[in-house]
Amino acid sequence: MHSGSLKGEKYFMKFEKKAIIFDLDGVICFTDKFHYQAWKALADRLGIYFDEKINDRLRGVSRMASLEIILERSAETYTQEQKEAFAEEKNNIYRELLKTMSPADLTDEVRDTLVELRHRGYKLSIGSSSKNTKFILERIGLSDFFDAIADGTDISRSKPDPEVFLKSAAKLGVAPSDCAVVEDAKAGIEAAKAGGMAALALFGDAKDCGLEDYNLKSFSDLLNIF
Ligand code: BG6
Ligand code: MG
Repeated sequence: MHSGSLKGEKYFMKFEKKAIIFDLDGVICFTDKFHYQAWKALADRLGIYFDEKINDRLRGVSRMASLEIILERSAETYTQEQKEAFAEEKNNIYRELLKTMSPADLTDEVRDTLVELRHRGYKLSIGSSSKNTKFILERIGLSDFFDAIADGTDISRSKPDPEVFLKSAAKLGVAPSDCAVVEDAKAGIEAAKAGGMAALALFGDAKDCGLEDYNLKSFSDLLNIF
């Protein structure tokens, strides 16, 4: 799948792939922080303990599955209708935070790396569990950048199921074995491996989770391996 070569003191691992599929929240932009703030506001209102460690378990999983993880700490039993209202309440807080974003929130490092990867001939796509994906891409000025987008509106099973990555690869017209995935979620690394793709961990609980093919030192480290 990949090979390494020694050059001077440094070891360079190279991945021979045609496409790179990016997770969105916590990889392309810092919206993972907004997810945390919005869930924290809901959890505090309901009197449920919630911290950044629990938040790591929400990375990559759907909105309703995230809510179920938060409610594990609640003594109350809620109806489906109440749960849907909680998920909507969180999403409304989250979207208010998203509205504060602009193209200035896309870092130079991410923008320049994406442009260079395209220049090197890679197909680039998004594979995100979020139903807010298109809104976020619009906010940061990347609406028309990617060759394909698969998101929470395209799937019935969220990560660690590989569905969103397989959809993204199919939209690109590239075989899963020719794709690499960049993820901050352990669930996303599991999804990539389940889909037969290379899994590159960046930040979050993806880093050093044990299933990754490579730990990225930074977003721009992609330019060292492709
Ligand atoms: C993922 C996030 O990208 O999207 C999860 O890592 C989130 O934390 C999921 O729950 C769904 O997002 P949204 O925007 O549809 O609520
Ligand atoms: Mg993520």
